[in-house]
Amino acid sequence: MRKASVVVGAQFGDEGKGKIVDVMAGGMDLIVRYQGGANAGHTIVADGVTYKLHLIPTGVVRGKRSLIGAGVVLDPAALAQELEGLAAGGKEITPAGLGIDFRTHVVLPWHAAIDVARQANKAIGTTGRGIGPAYEDAVARTGITFSDFVQASVLRERLAVIADGKQKQLQLLGGHGPDAAQVEAEFLELAARLAPFACDVSHELSVAMASGKAVLFEGAQGTHLDRNFGTYPFVTSSSTTSGGACVGAGVPPSAIGEVHGIAKAYTTRVGSGPFPTELMDATGERICEKGREYGTTTGRKRRVGWLDVPMLRRSHELNGFTHIHLTKLDVLEGLPELKIAVGYRLADGTQTDLLPATVKEMDSATPQFISVPGFEEIGEAGWKLVAQEGIAKGFAALPEKARQYVEKVEKLVGVRIASASIGPERESIIWAGK
Ligand code: GDP
Ligand code: IMO
Ligand code: MG
Repeated sequence: MRKASVVVGAQFGDEGKGKIVDVMAGGMDLIVRYQGGANAGHTIVADGVTYKLHLIPTGVVRGKRSLIGAGVVLDPAALAQELEGLAAGGKEITPAGLGIDFRTHVVLPWHAAIDVARQANKAIGTTGRGIGPAYEDAVARTGITFSDFVQASVLRERLAVIADGKQKQLQLLGGHGPDAAQVEAEFLELAARLAPFACDVSHELSVAMASGKAVLFEGAQGTHLDRNFGTYPFVTSSSTTSGGACVGAGVPPSAIGEVHGIAKAYTTRVGSGPFPTELMDATGERICEKGREYGTTTGRKRRVGWLDVPMLRRSHELNGFTHIHLTKLDVLEGLPELKIAVGYRLADGTQTDLLPATVKEMDSATPQFISVPGFEEIGEAGWKLVAQEGIAKGFAALPEKARQYVEKVEKLVGVRIASASIGPERESIIWAGK
């Protein structure tokens, strides 16, 4: 059996997973999403075209077979819209290019309305895509699976059972839900369109890996948004760590070989929750603007801060990284000084090099920084040249202080940095040691 590779976000999401998956997808046969839903926004810039994918795995950009596993929550209207967008850009996705597991749960319009109406969700700053409410129904065994969805009579039956309760739930929250007859009509139409994509992803993967095919799992969100191990309750509702690939796609742990953690050269977070290294000053503003740190899904401004090494080490504990890919290094150009959090001082005065385990501790802890020299501004054209030189020279092509920054991070985190990314395009990447 050929082992699969997993790509996971090492921070709070938006680390550049889409870009790295696209780069790696060149050597893959199957690309698989296994958790999350249309809350994700993965940006790929290839051959001058920018793709923003939410539900469809990044493999479609290279025409690789892409699969949506049972652990995803799938909004059929969002999927149809995404398919239409790709078709309009000349990428027609057929059932040969995309498969959806029969067991994948469907996000209903009421789920999104409940997500938006709930005060608690507003406080968390969710994406409003109905992710939490859809996973609640899946766990409560009251949800609609993709298999139910594509059989008209079952869909009608399931909607008839569910609609009334959802409307009442929404009324209690002071929200408004869509009309049940309207949902049924819309869903029957969507189901007819999407039915050809239904398949058994878990079985297909088993057969593919046994025959030596290369499989890449594309994580969404990030490690510190994990429902169990993130900054609860400021998390998403799925398992975002590498283990999530097994339970979400239906493959055994022994099927996983490489685990690629994606980390920005700094940190960002969208929505609420602890962020100890957050910058609330002009430097933060500068990084935000230069890095175009606005959400791919909601357009919200991302919070920005320095790189947090204890956070990355904790990610490594949870995911077992075999490689780290450091992205957006170019965004830090021109800053006179860069800071890296290497430990924490807790409320009682004790020092630790561990990430505080609870939100309460994290809120009251003070990050301890080291300062490293910044690197010069070389501009977009300069970074393109560095990328070209990097093909022969590896990290040695980087400006001296930028290389030192990468090496420092590698040493502090204790995981090999396999690549440094220096622009949004597919080619803007340097591999270590080449
Ligand atoms: P994902 O959710 O992890 O796939 O990340 P997003 O796509 O939400 O956000 C990452 C953003 O950074 C996207 O706009 C990418 O095009 C962009 N990006 C990725 N890598 C780099 C890089 O190395 N440098 C720059 N400047 N932008 C990058
Ligand atoms: P990608 O895959 C960054 C955040 C939301 C909110 C919390 C819960 O592009 O990295 P949810 O709607 O999931 O219930 O919201 O999680 N969040 C993300 N932040 N990138 C994402 O995805 C995210 N998906 C959800 O902002 O704080
Ligand atoms: Mg994103």
